[in-house]
Amino acid sequence: MKNHKWSRGVAVVGAGMSRFGAFADKTSRDLFVEAYQEMKSSIDKGFDPDRIDAFYLGNFSSDQFEKQAHLAPILASWIGLSPIASVRVENACASGGIAIRQAALAIASGEYDVVLVGGLEKMTDLDISAVTEALATAADTQFEIPAGFTFPGFYAAMATAYMAEHGAPREAFYHVSIKNHENGALNDKAQFGQTIKQIMESKKKRAEEKGRPVPEWQNEIEFLSDPKGNPNIAWPMALFDCSPVSDGGAVALLVAEDIAKEFTDTPLYLIGSGQASDGALPDRETLASIPAAEAAAKQAYAMAGLTPDDIDLAEVHDCFTIAEIMAIEDLGFFPRGGGWKAAMEGKTARDGEHPVNTSGGLKAKGHPVGASGVGQLNEIWKQLRGVAGARQLQGNPRIGLAHNVGGSGQTCVVNIFERRD
Ligand code: COA
Repeated sequence: MKNHKWSRGVAVVGAGMSRFGAFADKTSRDLFVEAYQEMKSSIDKGFDPDRIDAFYLGNFSSDQFEKQAHLAPILASWIGLSPIASVRVENACASGGIAIRQAALAIASGEYDVVLVGGLEKMTDLDISAVTEALATAADTQFEIPAGFTFPGFYAAMATAYMAEHGAPREAFYHVSIKNHENGALNDKAQFGQTIKQIMESKKKRAEEKGRPVPEWQNEIEFLSDPKGNPNIAWPMALFDCSPVSDGGAVALLVAEDIAKEFTDTPLYLIGSGQASDGALPDRETLASIPAAEAAAKQAYAMAGLTPDDIDLAEVHDCFTIAEIMAIEDLGFFPRGGGWKAAMEGKTARDGEHPVNTSGGLKAKGHPVGASGVGQLNEIWKQLRGVAGARQLQGNPRIGLAHNVGGSGQTCVVNIFERRD
């Protein structure tokens, strides 16, 4: 196998993000500035923006969502960074994670020392059918879209294949959703600040207030099993299996390892990174896993010299609940066909053997598509530095992994970060 060692190390010295959600009164620039300001104040030893050599922005489709292409230089100018080199990186929903990797490679090459990485998407200015149509341009528009697919449909096909191959019950997906909403409820940046139990109770209360029959759901599983509480979107993916449509921005500052301590005594080091690609669904041998994710993870583990059991926490790309179950297998945390059981047994909870999506994941934190990869890094930044508040993992986590998928698995990037002290 190729030796994936880089000639120069890369560190993260600051990170920040806006709240994720639906913000009719904000522009994407407002969200980006919010994230940038928080990143600046996260740098322990202060920071002179004149030191930034280049800017890489993960953004899927501001041209479709906001009728604004060429976003990177516009944002760089907006925050006073012109004339630095500014690049928009587009790899569908993996745009943010790939922007991190491209920025890191540019530092590793020796070209730059200090690079600003951003992720940004403002999706909610369009109505849901226009959003669905815009997202569909990330699929194969010659073969997949004419067959009637949308993104919920792709992941529904994968979920069906997974259930058939591994005997997984639909209930396994509910457990992913319940866990991620529980984590999201502890994250003040999350789009959904409520657990599924709280959502269920408020729906009962609303019914009572309006004089309608009050549903008799006894627990979250009963609520999620009832199409009145959890309507089907594309069977077996129902509403609470889907990530929402979101607005949001996230930012991080990457620097060469040799100067990291000028910014903070506790940087995170990017010790492993891998990226792989694949064809559309009709080109795949299996729909029950994402081969590009497995390949990207292998590269990242080889570069880091680590195994899946060395990872203390992972932020994975749960755009749909099935995606989290496939991810925890693709990343090697659980054997093939073991992901659904692990989800049901609580093994991916904050106190489980492999904590996954402590931020709430894309499901509850939100999924402003181009921002999601940089949002994942924000959670790892907080958890590894011990400042994740009520959702902070116990046991002094040192190694965090981010897994970011584009489309239905045509792109995957895996980045591994370490705190050393
Ligand atoms: N999970 C849980 N609840 C959700 C939700 C989600 N993903 N999306 C919306 N809701 C809730 C809203 O909060 C609202 O609740 P309320 O009635 O109590 O106020 C209700 O559902 C209706 O919201 P609305 O915005 O009208 O939903 P919608 O029907 O327009 O959109 C989906 C729902 C599932 C179709 C949409 O979220 C979606 O397309 N998600 C997938 C996005 C995607 O494909 N991303 C790319 C992944 S690769």
